[in-house]
This record gives sequence, C-alpha cells and structure tokens, in this order.
Amino acid sequence: MNSLVNSVAAATSSIETKYAGVIDRAIVLGSGLSDLSLDGFETIVKIDYMDISGLPRATAPSHKGEINIVSNGVNVIALCAGRHHLYEGYSAQQVTTLIYTLSQLGSKELIITNAAGALNPDFKPGDVMLIEDHINFTGHNPVQGQDQRFGVLFPDMSQAYSSEHIAQAQAAAIKHQVRFHKGVYIGVLGPSLETSAERRMMRGFGADAVGMSTVLESIAANHCGMQVLGLSAITNLALGNKDQQPDTIEEVLENAAIAGHGMTKILNEILANE
Ligand code: HPA
Repeated sequence: MNSLVNSVAAATSSIETKYAGVIDRAIVLGSGLSDLSLDGFETIVKIDYMDISGLPRATAPSHKGEINIVSNGVNVIALCAGRHHLYEGYSAQQVTTLIYTLSQLGSKELIITNAAGALNPDFKPGDVMLIEDHINFTGHNPVQGQDQRFGVLFPDMSQAYSSEHIAQAQAAAIKHQVRFHKGVYIGVLGPSLETSAERRMMRGFGADAVGMSTVLESIAANHCGMQVLGLSAITNLALGNKDQQPDTIEEVLENAAIAGHGMTKILNEILANE
C-alpha cells in the first residue's frame, strides 16, 4: 500500500512541476489509438512517462508513454497515450498508479479506450462498443491491501460505467453514423490470447468483448470517485468457433485504427458539448 501512496505522490508532484493547474478529465488511449487529437484543443505540455517519478514505463507495442495535456480554454484534458498492463509483469497497483495520480490532479472523469476481441457474433472488427459493465477475470484487484486513503474499503461497482456518459456517447455515435454496440467487457490477464473453449465460456458468462486492460483502471477510478466512460475498439473476432483464425497484432492494430476514427468522432462530440 505504501508503495502505491508513495508512487502516486511522486508522480503527482512530477507532473505538477510541469503543469500546475487542475486537470478536468483524462482519457486513457489504448492500442492503436495513441494519436487522438481533439478539435479545438491545443497542447499545453507533453510529458514523457519516463520523466514522471513513480510511474512505470509503458512497454506494450504502440503504447507511446506520454501525457499530452490539452485545453480549449475552458476544459483541460490529459490524453494519456500508453497504459500499463498486468501482462507486462506489473502489479495491479502499478497498473493503476496513473489513474490514482490523475484523480489527485483533479480529474473527476476518466474515459478509458481499449482494443478488444468480439465474443458477440453481431460485432464486426472496426466497430465501437460502449462499455455498459465489466467482468474482472484477471484475478487481481488494485484495492487489495490498501488503507482508506484513496477511497472506501469496499468500493461499490454497481454503476461502474456512468449511464449519463453512455447516453451521451450513444447520441454522438448515432449523430456521426458510427457503427456501435453496447455491451459487457471481460478483462483477462493475457498476454496469451484465449483458447476457443475459453472464449465460448466467456460468451456464456454474458461478456460481449474481451481484452487485457480496463477493468483494473475502472475499479481504481470508481474507488476514488471518478465517473467512467469506456469505449472498446473491436479489433478481431474472438467467437471461439471451430473456424477461429489466429489473431495477429497487425490485424488488431489495423482495426483499432478503423474503430479509432469512430471513437474520435464520439469523443469530439461529447467533449465539445461540455
Ligand atoms: N483477446 C484479448 N485481448 C484482446 C483481443 C482478444 O481477442 N483483441 C484485442 N485485445
């Protein structure tokens, strides 16, 4: 616990030496989405994760490891290109150090984006899923072993994803004709992909998309009182059928970029209206 408290304190003061104001909201940019640019927002400062004490390095492919703090004169948003995953060998608390730090810097809202495989046969690569709920299948939890400095001992997760934000994202997707679905995200440890039997089991659990991130970040954000919106880029079919094809990182990144266009339209619409 103390190492999380110390890491968050160190990361917060590192960022404060480069940007002293409040951050209103933050966006975690997942695989293939790290180049998000928002209409009407200009960069105030870019900070490399390597220059933030207490924050682990981002080692995953296509995860830059940089916070771009942008403003439109009214709102300040931290665009975090690069996240930390359990599969990199990080603990649940290392994975969520950035989230607790963003909360300390004032962020009341967290928008989480990710790449995910489709368990639901109605989904197609390139679609966007608005996350309505999640299943934490990682076997890890960032709140384990914490005292109550960042939040209560048993954080409620019954409204883990803000219905108000989902409604805004849905209206934006309809307005901009983005192919989208609403559904349940299941988070796994990785980095091996799921077997076909595991994918069929996850579908049976009620999950619509599977990925290797997001659930711990969402738990941490809920723990410290942030509102969460989650958007998945559907990058591959993970139906667990007999004809399941091998998934490749190239396919994942290519379709993440396609879904990323839709996500950018949704985010621009939501953030312009606030
Ligand atoms: N499984 C797990 N994580 C993923 C997948 C998948 O099929 N696609 C993108 N991230």
